[in-house]
Amino acid sequence: MTDLSLPNLPGGLPDKRQVAASFSRAAASYDSVAELQRDVGSELLSRLPEDFVPARWLDMGCGTGYFSRALGERFPDANGLALDIAEGMLNHARPLGGATHFIAGDAERLPLQDSACDLVFSSLAVQWCADFASVLNEVHRVLKPGGIFAFASLCVGTLYELRDSWRQIDGMVHVNRFREFGVYQQLCAGSGLKVVSLETNPHVLHYPDVRSLTHELKALGAHNLNPGRPGGLTGRARILGLIEAYEQYRQAQGLPATYQVVYAVLEKPL
Ligand SMILES: C[S@@+](CC[C@H](N)C(=O)[O-])C[C@H]1O[C@@H](n2cnc3c(N)ncnc32)[C@H](O)[C@@H]1O
Repeated sequence: MTDLSLPNLPGGLPDKRQVAASFSRAAASYDSVAELQRDVGSELLSRLPEDFVPARWLDMGCGTGYFSRALGERFPDANGLALDIAEGMLNHARPLGGATHFIAGDAERLPLQDSACDLVFSSLAVQWCADFASVLNEVHRVLKPGGIFAFASLCVGTLYELRDSWRQIDGMVHVNRFREFGVYQQLCAGSGLKVVSLETNPHVLHYPDVRSLTHELKALGAHNLNPGRPGGLTGRARILGLIEAYEQYRQAQGLPATYQVVYAVLEKPL
């Protein structure tokens, strides 16, 4: 059974300052490796109700601002807010435009007034928030009645090949933790927002070798930051063990890395 007393993930998530610093460092390399992020955000955009035109939108966890620019194009007359916890990401996004304002802030404590937005869009950011119930409360607060919260996130099952391969080597935490899909379902159902749609779909990328995958995670700023991760250098013998263990998953297209993506559209009742 899903343990709802623990909206904070078992074992905790990385410290917010570490998350911000990691994404800030990754700002320059992020866009060159963000294939999954672009596909997921585009899919999320396509899930917005066709006739929905917000007067003000918020891109929560905007990163390099790819989807702030997409929202700016889709809603040219709207006021756009792009928010992120990582200053480095905002510094990268700001000169590229798309939003009217770029704001440093935390999705768990939004620096916005009540009923400030008609749309909160958030692609692949809330898996970094340990307290998703707070995120939902905050989004409920800043949305106008009739407003939409569209988010994409990741749940358990993400990078299971890498996690299982590491487990065979040393049993330590080498992969970020993710919430169960059931927790997303139950927290959304109890949020006071109407669940228009909520589903999870696997998205599988392929890599020629393990190093390409781990380099990409680092370039995205999404490598393992969990408490409990092993410190120091990763020994050569353990890396060779990991490579061997991961080979059992190899497919014709290469080594698979599964991302279990959650897509949700919620609406604040009138
Ligand atoms: C994987 S990136 C996604 C960026 C962008 N939405 C995209 O799809 O390309 C996740 C972003 O969420 C931001 N983030 C993580 N925790 C956050 C929080 N608590 N509040 C606001 N942003 C956060 C990170 O700094 C990072 O820029």
